Amino acid sequence: MNRAMIIGTGSALPTRVLDNAELERMVETTDEWITSRTGIKTRRIAGAGEETSKLATAAARRALVMAGITPIELDLILVGTITPDMTMPSCACLVQKELKATRAFAFDLNAACSGFLYALDVADKYIRSDPKLKIMVIGAETLSTRVDWQDRNTCVLFGDGAGACVVTGNHQRHGSDPGEGLGDDAGKDKAEDDQKKETRPGADEDERGYLGAKLYADGNLWELLHLEGAPGRNPDLSRADHNSEPSIKMYGPEVFRHAVRAMADAVDKVLIEQGVSVKQLCLIIPHQANIRIIHSLGEHLALPLEKVYVNVDKYGNTSAATIPIALDEANRQGRLAAGDLLLLCSFGGGFTWGASLIRW
Ligand code: ACO
Repeated sequence: MNRAMIIGTGSALPTRVLDNAELERMVETTDEWITSRTGIKTRRIAGAGEETSKLATAAARRALVMAGITPIELDLILVGTITPDMTMPSCACLVQKELKATRAFAFDLNAACSGFLYALDVADKYIRSDPKLKIMVIGAETLSTRVDWQDRNTCVLFGDGAGACVVTGNHQRHGSDPGEGLGDDAGKDKAEDDQKKETRPGADEDERGYLGAKLYADGNLWELLHLEGAPGRNPDLSRADHNSEPSIKMYGPEVFRHAVRAMADAVDKVLIEQGVSVKQLCLIIPHQANIRIIHSLGEHLALPLEKVYVNVDKYGNTSAATIPIALDEANRQGRLAAGDLLLLCSFGGGFTWGASLIRW
């Protein structure tokens, strides 16, 4: 069966680290509050030259190297983001320009924190119709540009970053060894990874790749988590309460409650649909918003915590970028072997949510 298969991953993070101690000096908060309520210790904040498109491009370059393909081979670039550099052109078009991926068409997709999951599903649909396509799927954000730095309810939660993966049909010959040309450190990492990796049953090409997803949205609840655009110039469409500098608004406890319930439900449904039991899962990468949400989900699934990938402590909530960043880290750490069952799940503004299952 033809399906999308991930043949390379990459990620990129701004260099500046903002820790809880520094936030204590900016708003009325404490390291203890942030750590105990969210699990976040540090997050990365973009500086000059680290716009969403630049982070996305850097992540994409790393994914291309691992995949062993050149930018000119890309047919499509898809970016999940709610913080593009501009409204027009899309972030995906800017990535296309930076990569010189001149054959690729390109567009953004807005599903908030579920952007990467939605984009991966779109990529799979293209590949099922033409397995030879090579698609770059990216989740990239600079939420620091849309956070109210005086609002302690939100500014402690978010961070910037990008993750990417190259997907193509599972029956395509994946030419070079994914480790070739990885560059100094990454090449060494890859060599070490290969020693740790082993091939599991089910690693046959025909069974590998994107098995399926359950994706959802509920626009009725949009007000619980939203980010307005800049006020428009049509007075008939302007609202009196429209802020000239919009920032993320979130009703945390309600979002929390919905996030746990919705992700658990999506996970249950995708596992049932694919005939997979929780015990068969090798790794689960949930959206990294809050460690307490992740733990509640782990409890619901009765998954041992060592199977749940967590990096929210380092990067905070990078919205559409959390899952591809975590995926790249897990991949480079050798936590995924051919044939492993990997579950991704997310929840974000919209509301949007879902879960997808991949046989690595
Ligand atoms: N430091 C100190 N105190 C704070 C801070 C802070 N940074 N922020 C809020 N507080 C206070 C509140 O004012 C409140 O005080 P009060 O009781 O005197 O009114 C108290 O702490 C408790 O506030 P709650 O909001 O009830 O705290 P809660 O335990 O729910 O944690 C949090 C808040 C972390 C936001 C949590 O609700 C959460 O993680 N929600 C879900 C976030 C999420 O999943 N988002 C999804 C995706 S994001 C996207 O799509 C872009």
